[in-house]
Amino acid sequence: MTETPNTPEAPVCRRLVGRTAVITGAGSGIGLATARRLAAEGARVVCADIDESAGKAAADEVGGLYVRVDVTDPEQVEALFRTAYDTYGSVDIAFNNAGISPPDDDSILITGLDAWKRVQEVNLTSVYLCCKAALPYMQRQGRGSIINTASFVAVMGAATSQISYTASKGGVLAMSRELGVQFAREGIRVNALCPGPVNTPLLKELFAKDPERAARRLVHVPVGRFAEPEEIAAAVAFLASDDSSFVNAAEFLVDGGIAGAYVTPV
Ligand SMILES: NC(=O)c1ccc[n+]([C@@H]2O[C@H](COP(=O)([O-])OP(=O)(O)OC[C@H]3O[C@@H](n4cnc5c(N)ncnc54)[C@H](O)[C@@H]3O)[C@@H](O)[C@H]2O)c1
Repeated sequence: MTETPNTPEAPVCRRLVGRTAVITGAGSGIGLATARRLAAEGARVVCADIDESAGKAAADEVGGLYVRVDVTDPEQVEALFRTAYDTYGSVDIAFNNAGISPPDDDSILITGLDAWKRVQEVNLTSVYLCCKAALPYMQRQGRGSIINTASFVAVMGAATSQISYTASKGGVLAMSRELGVQFAREGIRVNALCPGPVNTPLLKELFAKDPERAARRLVHVPVGRFAEPEEIAAAVAFLASDDSSFVNAAEFLVDGGIAGAYVTPV
């Protein structure tokens, strides 16, 4: 029940040799696990993060390039993709993943406009900016895979609300679907990755403050545990690779069955 099949030690295939991948939020959690996985599959990885020490450590570890970026800043985002192209000669994969889940984003009744706007900027506007910056390179290549990190909360409601986070992820899902449809005939696929709750600093921080909230969530997960970041990274590697050549504009759930469950097994 608690086994995690995709440990970092597990052997991986080499589906991404010669591809350049830009990963935002590469310094931690899902982004870091994905940087490791894509590099192990042969990709040249550009690790983008606002946190310089974490981002640089990730890039050093995977033999990639660190670019400091605040994903809410249009000029910095454009510079990120330009740097990736200038350094490695292509932009084949964009994993637009950076996101926040701050404690002041809560029930709609107590969440202020500032908290609402900040989460929209970091989680949704950033994905708009990253797609807008990545697409022209992919159009010129006639090839590309964009993976935008949404969440299972984009397709399900919770009474323990984080209203702006949920709305931002719904936006990421709808935007990804539309882009996937618009650019499909140019060889570009755009998918929304919808992870279930993952054992990362973001969630640990949220749930450490409120163990009852954690327990209330866990009861809904059919597999009985949260995901490990490596399990999400494995799904990103699939979506990035040609193995997923007919997967486009998808709501790609990697959630241990949460979205399929009405009641969970005892
Ligand atoms: N952890 C979960 O359970 C879970 C579940 C579903 C979806 N997600 C989503 O997955 C993504 C990654 O989450 P995680 O759990 O790995 O988070 P994390 O906090 O471990 O990592 C997020 C990274 O993004 C960076 N970042 C934050 N703001 C930034 C900005 N403005 N510009 C550039 N970088 C910035 C941080 O420095 C950090 O390194 C997020 O979009 C999150 O909403 C997480």
